[in-house]
Amino acid sequence: MHVIITTAAMQAARRSLNGTTGVVLTMGYLHEGHLSLARRARAENDIVIATIFVNPAQFGPREDLAAYPRDLPRDLSLLEGVGVDIVFAPESPAEIYPDGYQTWIDLSDLPTKLEGAARPGHYRGVATVVAKLFNLTRPTRAYFGQKDAQQCVVIRRMVQDLNFDLDVVVCPTVREANGLAMSSRNTYLTPDERSRAAVIYRALSAAQAAYGQGERSAAVLRRLILDILATEPIVQTEYVSIADANTLDEIEAAIAAPALVSMVARVGKARLIDNVILA
Ligand code: PAF
Repeated sequence: MHVIITTAAMQAARRSLNGTTGVVLTMGYLHEGHLSLARRARAENDIVIATIFVNPAQFGPREDLAAYPRDLPRDLSLLEGVGVDIVFAPESPAEIYPDGYQTWIDLSDLPTKLEGAARPGHYRGVATVVAKLFNLTRPTRAYFGQKDAQQCVVIRRMVQDLNFDLDVVVCPTVREANGLAMSSRNTYLTPDERSRAAVIYRALSAAQAAYGQGERSAAVLRRLILDILATEPIVQTEYVSIADANTLDEIEAAIAAPALVSMVARVGKARLIDNVILA
């Protein structure tokens, strides 16, 4: 496995590659969710590139950029274990955002919804770094986890709008045995918080089951989720949304599939996101 730390070296390496290329973009501190993306990329492409970059541009001023967990040696050995060929891990933020940097990608509508409304500027930072990493790695396929549902919608839109010649492949959320969606931020949880946070997926699954049994009222499903979440007071719900899975517009009346049921809760020091699709 080849580890590259500068953009110039990444571009030079890319020029010499032939065949299909799968890319997995990460901020490191890898877990089984990331590895599932890398394994899928390995199965479907000649070359697999993973990137590790904690992107300052997608963190708000009061968010956890400084505290974000990092462990590059461990990440590299995990990526080697799943057969990744090249890791691009820029040695510093200045490698991606050098002095004088001023080009940003702003989607006009999608970032005003859900996580974008809660985290102003977040998707501008995500879209910009993803576009840059796509240009540096020029993938045939790019793999993302369904856990970041809005990110997947934003990136698909950007790929279409800016004519990136690649396929966005969205892979299922990988969960702990208790249902908690895997996330690098789960490391902020105590063991007790981790087990109580399982209520998040229990609540989302209950909505999915009710939908499966014919319930179509968004208000009823929202109430069901909130009532289940309320059984664990340390899980502090920020929002529960039932929205059109493509436009992310909130559904106020009857659900016409596919709908994205997404939520955010604070548990101790962690801000956890999760979602299910009703289809
Ligand atoms: O999903 C993530 O880890 C990040 O948002 C991404 C796509 C690597 C961009 O920094």
